[in-house]
Amino acid sequence: MKRERWAAIQEGEFAYHLAKDETRVLEINLPYWRSLIAQLPEEVRFETSTRVLDLGCGGCGILLGLGRGELVGVDPLMNRYLEKFPFLAERKDIRWIEGAAEEVTFDEPFDVVFAINSFDHVYDPRLVVGTVRDFLKPGGHCVMTMNCHNTRPFRAYYAALYRFIDHHHPHQFTPRDVERLFDGFTLIEQREIDELWFPHAERYARDVLRRPLVDRRKWLRAAANPLKWPMGLCKVLLNMPRHSTRPGQRSIFSNYLLVFRK
Ligand SMILES: C[S@@+](CC[C@H](N)C(=O)[O-])C[C@H]1O[C@@H](n2cnc3c(N)ncnc32)[C@H](O)[C@@H]1O
Repeated sequence: MKRERWAAIQEGEFAYHLAKDETRVLEINLPYWRSLIAQLPEEVRFETSTRVLDLGCGGCGILLGLGRGELVGVDPLMNRYLEKFPFLAERKDIRWIEGAAEEVTFDEPFDVVFAINSFDHVYDPRLVVGTVRDFLKPGGHCVMTMNCHNTRPFRAYYAALYRFIDHHHPHQFTPRDVERLFDGFTLIEQREIDELWFPHAERYARDVLRRPLVDRRKWLRAAANPLKWPMGLCKVLLNMPRHSTRPGQRSIFSNYLLVFRK
């Protein structure tokens, strides 16, 4: 997608993060990051000398859940996040860099590259794979989480209409699409991890986003938007929510963990 269009989408992205309660976000995200790190394959190890890069690290990302390693976080909104979330600057062991994953360069390669719910936000996923290829050591790991589609028809629907129905996510992937982009890497783990977030979801919505987990006003807005009708109808027919809210529920998207070895 065009960089200018992406830059406009990023303004909306920051508005979403700006609305968060910065005094509560860390206490809810930290246990989540630690539970995710604990779920990673055994061969992804973190020692004091492990060099770790987080592409699209956000304002309260997974690096905060790591107690050791040479840690570098990159995000195009980094300087604004540093102002909004004061606890970031307190982590003197983490180097925060403002930049886009497509464009950053480093003097030394990394052992682990994270891209946590950021790969579907970038302007050119192929260039981001190039960055991972260039700056991951041979045998190193790329750990990604991402909302991926569970069905091809909904993927096509979202890909055609994302500007109107999901404008923060310009790329719509199935797990297989991501695997194809990481051609030449070995996929060592792929699974749905929605359930890891369930214990935190309600408190996060109430205390950090200050809105209910099930937002009835959002449904009304969707009902007023004709572009959302066909999907709403499908959802009723298929009894398929956008995201699952309880174990085992079928949904349009699932949050996937994908781990590649270079
Ligand atoms: C949903 S947030 C996830 C943030 C963080 N990783 C987390 O899980 O809390 C998506 C992030 O991707 C970042 N992003 C968007 N385009 C990017 C790009 N081209 N390169 C790197 N990060 C990007 C956004 O600025 C945003 O912080």
